[in-house]
Amino acid sequence: MAGRLEGKVALITGAASGIGRGTVDLFVREGARVIAADIQDDRGARIEEEYSGKARYVRCDVSDEAAIAAAVDAASRHFGRLDCLFNNAGTGGANDAADGVSAQNFDQVMHLHVLAAMLGMKYAVPLMRKSGGGSIITTASVAGLRAGYGPLLYSTAKGAIIHMTHVAAAQLAASSIRVNCICPGLIATNIFASSLGVPSQLAETRIDAIAEASRASQPIQRGGRPRDIAEAALYLASDGSDWVTGQAITVDGGLTLGPQGMEQLSAFAPIVQALGVDQEALAAAAAGQSSPAADR
Ligand SMILES: NC(=O)c1ccc[n+]([C@@H]2O[C@H](COP(=O)([O-])OP(=O)(O)OC[C@H]3O[C@@H](n4cnc5c(N)ncnc54)[C@H](O)[C@@H]3O)[C@@H](O)[C@H]2O)c1
Repeated sequence: MAGRLEGKVALITGAASGIGRGTVDLFVREGARVIAADIQDDRGARIEEEYSGKARYVRCDVSDEAAIAAAVDAASRHFGRLDCLFNNAGTGGANDAADGVSAQNFDQVMHLHVLAAMLGMKYAVPLMRKSGGGSIITTASVAGLRAGYGPLLYSTAKGAIIHMTHVAAAQLAASSIRVNCICPGLIATNIFASSLGVPSQLAETRIDAIAEASRASQPIQRGGRPRDIAEAALYLASDGSDWVTGQAITVDGGLTLGPQGMEQLSAFAPIVQALGVDQEALAAAAAGQSSPAADR
């Protein structure tokens, strides 16, 4: 059976690790040829070895406009077209608080996440138009949807990506170019270790431990994996999503549904107390059971 990306060419940034690497693996398996762009040459070389002829590594620091242009050009030179751009490179960034933002950190974080994605579009769109359309996907985050999931600058950048997605999608729809983003929840990758200064070789050995430790962090009780996000990217890159544009697709095991069960109920505790209702009745009501009081 033909793969879902048979004949398509994708450029993936941040391809050497985590979500990007998981997406390279899935896209190649589904028949795509891939330009894997990153700044980790050793890991890039491993991708080329593993997927000889199907994936090419390009060194591309997405903070450098010329490097982005060259990565898009590589898609054209090696594979003759570009059907999908996955703007995915990123780091946790600086931890500036709301009353202590540095202009330099703001510029660095916005450049890495927002401007890089815009420049990716700038160079990818002309090539996509030549082959009649394409799909642009950017990795946003649940931190772009709600407070509490990331540092201020990172969260602001991810929020900007979500709205960039809306506006760019409206502009590019007439060219049959779809623009969507994905909002991952907690995914077991190196991003946490690199934000905390843990060397990447050590971090790599802790990925399973991160997944295990985050099992209960969301309603679906298993840790998020790069493959979970790669599957969403596959859908958005494939013709199966031909009528989907301007969307921010949340893939988070239910994390953004908010607090669950008794944790949620604790917010109502003072009200319940003031009403003289017992906690047991409230818990039963929240669980969808009729309360003993209501049965009487
Ligand atoms: N892991 C999560 O929980 C999570 C959640 C929400 C969003 N995200 C986003 O997912 C994306 C991928 O992160 P990940 O979790 O896979 O982390 P990761 O650290 O495993 O991978 C990030 C990759 O981006 C590359 N990169 C960093 N700076 C770059 C630059 N200037 N130019 C080119 N490449 C660069 C790194 O070398 C690395 O290979 C990021 O945009 C991140 O913000 C991650």
